[in-house]
Amino acid sequence: MSYETILVERRDAVTLITLNRPQALNALNTQVLAELGKAFADYDADPAQRCAVLTGSGEKAFAAGADIKEMADKPAADFFLEDFFSGWQSNVVATRKPWIAAVAGFALGGGCELAMMADFIIAADTAKFGQPEIKLGVAPGMGGSQRLTRAVGKAKAMEMCLTGRMMDAQEAERSGLVARIVPAAELLDEALKSAALIASMPPMAAMVNKEMVNMAFETGLAQGILTERRLFQILTATEDKREGMAAFVEKRPGVWKGR
Ligand code: HXC
Repeated sequence: MSYETILVERRDAVTLITLNRPQALNALNTQVLAELGKAFADYDADPAQRCAVLTGSGEKAFAAGADIKEMADKPAADFFLEDFFSGWQSNVVATRKPWIAAVAGFALGGGCELAMMADFIIAADTAKFGQPEIKLGVAPGMGGSQRLTRAVGKAKAMEMCLTGRMMDAQEAERSGLVARIVPAAELLDEALKSAALIASMPPMAAMVNKEMVNMAFETGLAQGILTERRLFQILTATEDKREGMAAFVEKRPGVWKGR
């Protein structure tokens, strides 16, 4: 499938997806969501692809939000009847394999929310995160009030949502929103390097590790720990567990079957 709003490249086992509406600072419209959905579904379904990176085209923005021009004249009933924004859950969050958001420049509103859907964020030193929806008379609609609060705590999340102020990369790292900061010129290389490292891991173990960490946001401690233990026990049945432990003992790299 050819895309109009995103670019998709396969670099060995890593899928690189680039939001590509630089003239609109990569604002997220219905077409972007549909195309991202297809790209993530293809990535998830291809056993040769083991990690993905999502980034923005241009240096100025990862994404400056949901497309305000698309939403400006839309009747409220249509937002409700279409269950507007629900597709982000089914098209993006539902991805079972790991993916990284590589953020340079603005990640605002839906752009910040999309970055927070990633398994982790690597930020350029130019990154700026914010939830400025209040200035438009609305509020986050793609998970921002929930994911930002879980990532940085109530004080900062509430301040950002109520004032619309942006957080720079340093504050985002201090607050736990991003995994690490790199110089802008090295962002893509660093994200691809990190993705290649993840892609070199046993793939079922990568999927299960992702599921386990996400479980921490969905359940209480005792249930989460029990689920972790059961998932760990299930992984011990894989051929890659046998191979991984044998490779360690024999002091050689593991060769993964992906099952
Ligand atoms: C549509 C957008 C856009 C957006 C920028 N553009 N953000 N188009 N939707 N979210 C377009 C501009 O209209 C302009 O196109 C071009 O991108 C360049 O933007 P400028 O504003 O000229 O750039 P600059 O002056 O450098 O300012 C950058 C900026 C500003 C600070 C990031 O663009 C901005 O504030 N954008 C909106 C950020 C925002 O409010 N995001 C949250 C959206 S709501 P033209 O062709 O006009 O020159 C959301 C969730 C809503 O995400 C959930 C509730 C339903």
